[in-house]
Amino acid sequence: MKKACVMGHPIAHSRSPMIHGYWLKALGIAGGYEIRDLKPEEFVPFISNLGGNGYVGGNVSLPHKEAAYRTVAARDAAAEAVGAVNTLWLEDGKLMGGNSDVHGFIANLDDRAPGWNVPGCKVVILGAGGASRSAVYAFRQRGVEVHVVNRTLARAQELARRFGASAHEWNDLAKLLSQADVLVNCTSLGMQGKDPLEIDLSPLKKSAVVYDIIYVPLETAILAQARKRGHRTVDGLGMLLQQAGFGFRKWFGGDPRVTPELRQLVEADIVAKTPK
Ligand code: ATR
Repeated sequence: MKKACVMGHPIAHSRSPMIHGYWLKALGIAGGYEIRDLKPEEFVPFISNLGGNGYVGGNVSLPHKEAAYRTVAARDAAAEAVGAVNTLWLEDGKLMGGNSDVHGFIANLDDRAPGWNVPGCKVVILGAGGASRSAVYAFRQRGVEVHVVNRTLARAQELARRFGASAHEWNDLAKLLSQADVLVNCTSLGMQGKDPLEIDLSPLKKSAVVYDIIYVPLETAILAQARKRGHRTVDGLGMLLQQAGFGFRKWFGGDPRVTPELRQLVEADIVAKTPK
């Protein structure tokens, strides 16, 4: 029986086993998907013998995505570009690394806000960490104009240089919002247990799409504000679901689809476990 796993630290609350378990069952594939909590010093030895440990591949979560990037024998273009690997598989005994967050990020936007890429589309991305890298790269691949806004300007500038975007401080936000067609939150603000993201969306055009990659809670304060103002909104759960199929196809084959039933299953779990 083929087995894959999700590796992280901490990782107990990962929804990936639920997603892959759903597809294994739905597609009638005899496989397994497990959680492996690995400390930083355990991670590289573990993936260096992934097959010997019983796995055909796996997902890599925080804090191991850069270590995975450094360790694999070869990487796909997305992993190469963003400097992080979140999916591992074996090819002729060699450890391969990919980045499905890039695909998941943009596929979710295509799915939930079709037509977002209007002529001359301008995107404003809040944050310049790992999550932001995937978003900036994905947008630039689509030829979209990207503005990165970050508390630490130097990080935004580094991203801007690397991918061909422009970098700004928070003070510039109101002006940028007035020109934005898509606004994306890639900071950790608004996540359960973190400070809220407090921005005023009133400069936004009515047609602008607001996307938050956070999925706990499902509807962050910024998405609620956007919904009330009549904007199309996109949440982070779709990104998690859309990125998962990439690994599944590599490990188990078949045609894993993001169905309303799958979304409902994961949504119910998040709602049940998120304090009001
Ligand atoms: P990830 O890899 O998940 O993106 P990260 O690299 O820690 O995580 O990045 C978190 C992002 O949220 C950063 O852009 C960070 O801004 P800085 O680069 O200035 O640290 C942003 N962020 C976190 N807390 C913030 C806060 N209180 N105010 C503004 N931005 C914040």
